[in-house]
Amino acid sequence: MTPVPFKFDEVGYWSELKLEIVEKYGSAYTTAFKNTRLKKYYIDGLCGAGVHFSKKTATQVEGSPSRALKIFPPFDAYYFIDIDEEKTSYLQTICGNRSDVHIHTGDSTEYLTKELLPKIQFKNYERALCLLDPYGLHIDWEVMYRAGQSKAIDMFLNFPVMDMNRNAIWKNPGRVPQDGIERMTKFWGDESWKQAAYAKSPQGSFFGHEMVKQGNDDIVAAFRQRLKKVAGFKFVPEPLPMRNSTNAVVYYLFFASQKPVAEKIISDIFRKYR
Ligand SMILES: C[S@@+](CC[C@H](N)C(=O)[O-])C[C@H]1O[C@@H](n2cnc3c(N)ncnc32)[C@H](O)[C@@H]1O
Repeated sequence: MTPVPFKFDEVGYWSELKLEIVEKYGSAYTTAFKNTRLKKYYIDGLCGAGVHFSKKTATQVEGSPSRALKIFPPFDAYYFIDIDEEKTSYLQTICGNRSDVHIHTGDSTEYLTKELLPKIQFKNYERALCLLDPYGLHIDWEVMYRAGQSKAIDMFLNFPVMDMNRNAIWKNPGRVPQDGIERMTKFWGDESWKQAAYAKSPQGSFFGHEMVKQGNDDIVAAFRQRLKKVAGFKFVPEPLPMRNSTNAVVYYLFFASQKPVAEKIISDIFRKYR
């Protein structure tokens, strides 16, 4: 057996389902561009090493960049970004020296907002499918906003409710560490998440708190509206809750697009997994 240079990330089966969904949509996406002059790009904002270790089967599974490379018809170019140098180096060995693959090691928000997204121009017949798949609150709203405003991008977003509930949205908001509040605000784009996350207690003070923590559904619904109204995505179907073996929601998989046909395709795919 070939020795692995570092320990692959271990993924739960909900991550494998996400990979299947993105792959299915990716094939439909590039097929729809057949016989058009449009350039189609694949952007994996937090791409990982290209290989994971499945907790379910105890075997290696291909990650999102490896799967994107196999989609047919192919994209015109691929952009893979990860902050972890070991992961991007490993991914490089998978990609070889393909001239259509661009791998960047660094912070995704920085690279996407300053370098890559400004170059993808609707008026130049350029379009992209962008996957933003953080483990937690590791990407800023600025990326989602620019993706929406470009009118050229279809986006998958892993909405990390587990990190939010662990580190930013607590029953007692007064005790949340400052770091959690700041990361949440960067992800959301401003402090309006607090209105979605907490409601005034009808009884006045509830267990000593004026504010009552809202459920995931309220937070998710508010973010869905934000992707439409603030970022400017025309179509944001109800996201798919991804659950672990104890039925707890680990994250919600959002999809956002400008096209009704994209919404129809993803709704059909989501329905099969819901
Ligand atoms: C959930 S994994 C990505 C998995 C990948 N999309 C897949 O399905 O195969 C999240 C990745 O984000 C990377 N990451 C964390 N913070 C980052 C940041 N600020 N910028 C870029 N990548 C980051 C981690 O190193 C990790 O590989």
